Amino acid sequence: MKIVNSIQRLRTTVAQWKSQSFTIAFVPTMGNLHQGHLALVNAAQKKADKVIVSIFVNPSQFSAGEDFSNYPRTKKQDTEALIIEAVDLLFLPAVDEIYPDHAKTHVIVSELSNLHCGKYRQGHFTGVSTVVCKLISMTQAHYLFLGEKDFQQLTIIQLMIRDLNLPIQLESVATVREKDGLAMSSRNGYLTFKERQIAPKLYQSLSQAKKYIIQSQQSFREIEQQQKQYLRESGFTVDYFSICRVDDLLTANRGHQALVILAAASLGKPRLIDNIYLTLG
Ligand code: PAF
Repeated sequence: MKIVNSIQRLRTTVAQWKSQSFTIAFVPTMGNLHQGHLALVNAAQKKADKVIVSIFVNPSQFSAGEDFSNYPRTKKQDTEALIIEAVDLLFLPAVDEIYPDHAKTHVIVSELSNLHCGKYRQGHFTGVSTVVCKLISMTQAHYLFLGEKDFQQLTIIQLMIRDLNLPIQLESVATVREKDGLAMSSRNGYLTFKERQIAPKLYQSLSQAKKYIIQSQQSFREIEQQQKQYLRESGFTVDYFSICRVDDLLTANRGHQALVILAAASLGKPRLIDNIYLTLG
């Protein structure tokens, strides 16, 4: 596996690959890799001839008071895991390689960036869309792989690619879960033993909501309130639990068929997000 730190060296390798007509898939990450990331890598390997993984803990997507400085950085283990997976290139840029002092441009996907997680994490999605746009431009890959666990992020990046006519195809990969249903996430490592026992209830509440939507006896708002209550009684502080339309993540009502249920809730300090989607009819 080639490891490069500079945009220039990355581009030289990509140019060589393109001159040989190889297709390229790109998996952006913030490191601390788990099975969910490796599922993205494996899907990318099935789709393209060459796979680039980036590890960059992106400062601009952490709001004030969030865990940027404590975010788990596990470069050695991550590099070893990617070598085992036979990834072709690991891009490991420093912060000033991505954000030189003169940088003035941000990519803002309006409206959707302010809903759901955007309400609770000021500037988060602008940080995400800006860095992903820059990484797409740096890697010039044909395919971009993102996980479905961050469903709002996935939708925002899809809109950015469409609106900016970026020449890349977005591929999403299903959330990888622990045996008890908890969605894999680097932030699960923050959970205490006791919180870890409670954490799977987030996915249980999404699954219950899905069941009640299908049973069709309550309004969507009643189902949301019921599941928020269940989570609060289990010890969570709930940011939101929303039944949405899958395309634009706006509030869904009975009659809408393609749905996603989005939830974010904290257990002590760690904040967990998860989702489940379904099509009715
Ligand atoms: O999902 C993540 O890990 C990050 O938001 C991403 C897409 C790598 C951008 O920093």
